Amino acid sequence: MKASIIKDNIKDIMADALVVGVYEGVKSLNTDLAEIDKQLDSAISDMIGSGAFEGKESETLLIYTLGKIPAKKILLLGLGKEEDFKADTIRKVVGKAVKQLEKSKADTAAILPIGLDKNIPPETVGRCIVEGAMLASYKFNKYKTGEEDKENNLEEIYIVNTDNSTEDDMNEGIKTGSALANGTIMARNLINEPSNVVTPEVMADKAMEIANKHGLEVKILEREDIEKLGMGCFLGVAQGSDKPPKLITIKYFGGDKNDEVLGLVGKGLTFDSGGISIKPSSGMEEMKGDMGGAAAVLGAMDVIGTLKPKANVIGIVGTCENMPSGKAYKPGDILNSMGGKTVEVLNTDAEGRLVLIDCIAYALKEGATKLVDIATLTGACVIALGSTTTGLISNNEEFVEDVKVAAEKAGERVWQLPSYPEYKKLIKGDWADLKNSGGREAGTITAGLFLGEFAGENPWVHMDIAGTSMTSDSKIGSAKGATGVGVRTLYHLVKSMEK
Ligand code: BES
Ligand code: MN
Ligand code: ZN
Repeated sequence: MKASIIKDNIKDIMADALVVGVYEGVKSLNTDLAEIDKQLDSAISDMIGSGAFEGKESETLLIYTLGKIPAKKILLLGLGKEEDFKADTIRKVVGKAVKQLEKSKADTAAILPIGLDKNIPPETVGRCIVEGAMLASYKFNKYKTGEEDKENNLEEIYIVNTDNSTEDDMNEGIKTGSALANGTIMARNLINEPSNVVTPEVMADKAMEIANKHGLEVKILEREDIEKLGMGCFLGVAQGSDKPPKLITIKYFGGDKNDEVLGLVGKGLTFDSGGISIKPSSGMEEMKGDMGGAAAVLGAMDVIGTLKPKANVIGIVGTCENMPSGKAYKPGDILNSMGGKTVEVLNTDAEGRLVLIDCIAYALKEGATKLVDIATLTGACVIALGSTTTGLISNNEEFVEDVKVAAEKAGERVWQLPSYPEYKKLIKGDWADLKNSGGREAGTITAGLFLGEFAGENPWVHMDIAGTSMTSDSKIGSAKGATGVGVRTLYHLVKSMEK
């Protein structure tokens, strides 16, 4: 989808649809709108006056203009109560508008700027409109024969803005919004693809594609390299599968040599069967998405490559399959980690943390001074926070605050869980330093703290996206399946490191 500013007077705009936001309960139209209303024989004011359109959040009403103005139809779009309106409302209502317009077979839409009257900065308005539109328009129907032709895609949006003083900022927002949406869509595609298509090797290919596209340094380590590094935990998880593991590194140095280096570490299980501690068959298909954290890191690196913030970032992905087989690791096995601690395997289904600890140790070796890891790590997080909120665990209050601010900017919800030292007792090993499962109690916290054991003194935040990475029902901003959560939060976090 293309997006740009259009400066025409609204009564002259040529587009399949003109999208007009209206707050709940508003009775009078502004001068521009009053003029088209007149040309439409009061169609708009009649709809509002008669109560046919109330302006409730995401309410829509399509009015055909029958040649009275160049735009073929007008979509009235409810913005909800004025006092509840915030930047994220823009994404939501624009998403709804796009869904409606696609149903009515529109190819182009001009959107009157929403939120500028509420003192939302023009950069934010541009960014949120574009994110809302592009992410709502996303579909993953490539395997449904013939479906591509049936569904209409909105091809181009114009944001109507005749004010020269806000033009540059809004253009900046449009550019940022489309880079973020494209990175998010890249992540969604990787996650929605089945595990027979997206294998560890394909993850590595994708990383190379991203790096080459933006001229970034990329390194793919193979099983032998991973062995040499002493990553016994990562290798333990990978050994049951016929598909070899890959350790992916993408480096982006946009800051000064002495600046902090943020390590972004993603869990990349292209399929998690549970291994010998095999999962129940019901719902196992969702585990094709157990590389959601890795997809978020790759998506964020793509955005970073496009927008080139002045900061230093290393993206690291450990990718493999967790499979039962004659070669598979087993409960009771004791593994060596690259960080030095030994780990007793209580449950082969608690594999993500084993892959991640070796990737965290590697990120530090590669020069990361701060760490964020992102992973579909625990079912317990889905129970605790549901599918709307990502769980956070951290060893540094200041840094976790930065992540919260970045998430707010992204319109993604996060919630920090406690990390009191008492919890660490639950993961102390009986036969080794640590055990990979602390049992059912506080499952998200113990999994997070297990990772934290390998971050040392470096500021570290863990994001558990088990609940937020995929959605089971179609929402306005995201079709059923992958949400691409994390890409935008990670980018805003990187951007916030600029000096
Ligand atoms: N990938 C799963 C977690 C998960 C569950 C992600 C549901 C998305 C949706 C993870 O590897 C896992 O299996 N975790 C176990 C840990 C347990 C064995 C300690 C879990 O949560 O049950
Ligand atoms: Mn598992
Ligand atoms: Zn897993």
